[in-house]
Amino acid sequence: MTESIIELKNIDVTFHQKKRTIEAVKNVSINIDRGDVYGIVGYSGAGKSTLVRVINLLQEPTRGSIVVNGTTFFQSDEHSGQKTRISNNDLRVRRRKIGMIFQHFNLLNERTVTENVAFALQHSQLKDDEKKAKVAELLALVDLSDRAEQYPSQLSGGQKQRVAIARALANDPEILISDEATSALDPKTTNQILALLKKLNTEFGLTIVLITHEMQAVKEVANKVAVMQNGEIIERGSLLEIFAQPKQQLTREFIETATNIDKAIETISHEPLVNKLKDGEIFARLSYVGETTDEPLIAGLFRDFNVTANILYGNIEVLQDTPVGSLLVILSGDPTQLQTALSTLHDHHVDVTVIKGGN
Ligand SMILES: Nc1ncnc2c1ncn2[C@@H]1O[C@H](COP(=O)(O)OP(=O)(O)OP(=O)(O)O)[C@@H](O)[C@H]1O
Ligand SMILES: [Mg+2]
Repeated sequence: MTESIIELKNIDVTFHQKKRTIEAVKNVSINIDRGDVYGIVGYSGAGKSTLVRVINLLQEPTRGSIVVNGTTFFQSDEHSGQKTRISNNDLRVRRRKIGMIFQHFNLLNERTVTENVAFALQHSQLKDDEKKAKVAELLALVDLSDRAEQYPSQLSGGQKQRVAIARALANDPEILISDEATSALDPKTTNQILALLKKLNTEFGLTIVLITHEMQAVKEVANKVAVMQNGEIIERGSLLEIFAQPKQQLTREFIETATNIDKAIETISHEPLVNKLKDGEIFARLSYVGETTDEPLIAGLFRDFNVTANILYGNIEVLQDTPVGSLLVILSGDPTQLQTALSTLHDHHVDVTVIKGGN
């Protein structure tokens, strides 16, 4: 049984500026289940930050309803447009259960690591010595015990983000919102932070909303993905669904970047084999999930259709313990047989994208 911890329904956020109206979020509904790591991917300006700021009412929507952990934070009446919202006091208390981390860490520079984390406990009911113990425990969790008395300026980006994570966890939140938390970090540090987020998810059941413009980050930790463009969610699904069978062009682009296949296509496209395709040859990308493996697939094409496959590039990713493969191939054979081969592949849940040839 899964249970939604965040339910956003028909959310609009419209900004009115002097001469312009910006519809930053348009009719977005999203349900996030307890224990999800929900990736929201999109380019700059897509509306990702605006959407997640709605979750804890840092941004009041123009329309829609927000229910977090069973409590209605906000609701607008479909007909009258009348808005009701949670009391400020209640909101303040409930916001503590929603931690946030950001690209630029937002630490207090004139305070030590310990003080930065303790700051989040200023309204806590804990006694002083309990607070001290709590901070120490959090710093151990993010592996920064040895930095407790240092200042942010003495830390690397990854360490600063770990302080921010410790601070975000101070009030034992059930939800952590990460808005581009790894965007300012190098790839190795990014992976360390993502691994820490994953650990918090698996060990403590923390629900994570991961905003990013990098599908790579989502690929590492998310179990579900939504793709945003122009204020709308244009595609959503499990990580596997999205990677195996992306439907929208934008989703494909994100995935190709995340799997490096875009670079492979770019490089291989310049090779004579692809550049000068013969009649009856196509350059294609085959993608598949799970049990299907490349060998029987390719062997079957030849056995059943006399279609040969020249594999130019292959990549297998393991997403949530399931292999997801991509092959760049030149397929050649009798045109009719080739078409039948392609639809057979399709029937076997192999996603085929013809990149060149075959017209
Ligand atoms: N307070 C505001 N007033 C007016 N316009 C705003 C405001 N906040 C955001 N916008 C506009 O709403 C749109 C969505 O912005 P948002 O910051 O949500 O995008 P984003 O997907 O988070 O982008 P990025 O990846 O650059 O962080 C943009 O056009 C932005 O200029
Ligand atoms: Mg943003």
